[in-house]
Amino acid sequence: MQTILICGSRNPNGQTALAADAVRKGLAKAGASAEQVFLPTLKVERCRQCDDNGWGLCRKEGRCVIDDDLSGLVEKIRQADAIVFATPVYYSDLSESLRAFADRLRRICTHAAGRVSIKGKPAIGVCVAGGGGGGAPACCVSLEKVMTTCGLDVVDMIPVRRQNLQTKLQILELAGQWLAAEPRSG
Ligand SMILES: Cc1cc2nc3c(=O)[nH]c(=O)nc-3n(C[C@H](O)[C@H](O)[C@H](O)COP(=O)(O)O)c2cc1C
Repeated sequence: MQTILICGSRNPNGQTALAADAVRKGLAKAGASAEQVFLPTLKVERCRQCDDNGWGLCRKEGRCVIDDDLSGLVEKIRQADAIVFATPVYYSDLSESLRAFADRLRRICTHAAGRVSIKGKPAIGVCVAGGGGGGAPACCVSLEKVMTTCGLDVVDMIPVRRQNLQTKLQILELAGQWLAAEPRSG
């Protein structure tokens, strides 16, 4: 099994990366490979809302007019059997890099051609509130909404706060193991 972990943090040694790595360990225990990408290190512009009506090629052809790292990431998602999104909680919401990525991904998924090998794919979201510790559940709601809009099969959402990160690492690892073993919600 092949998976991709899409991380909205810029810090490979931070709390979000630690949480994502726990999921990766669980996936690996169950025999799944996991490629991890850190969105802030990639070039993913925000949506240009191309036409006057706010739509663009995304609606007509299921692809984006912007030539940046989005298309490569979408391809990796298509190749993967399951996806994990991990974001630091900013203002009780997604990080800007994950927001930019998710906003464009959902537009691509508006069209049947764009949804190919994405629709129905099992996915887990992890939201890490690493400051005061508030806002992880609200961030999960926000992330779950955009994942669902993309047509993904959201099989789990895991809120984490700085104060319970060490405890939740065990849960995250188990979630990774479970995702590799029996990821379907239905
Ligand atoms: C703009 C901004 C907003 C943030 N908002 C919150 C928040 O609402 N709740 C919280 O607990 N932490 C908040 N934090 C702290 C981040 O969640 C914390 O830095 C992050 O989880 C740890 O970053 P890392 O995982 O990339 O290392 C915020 C940080 C930034 C930069």
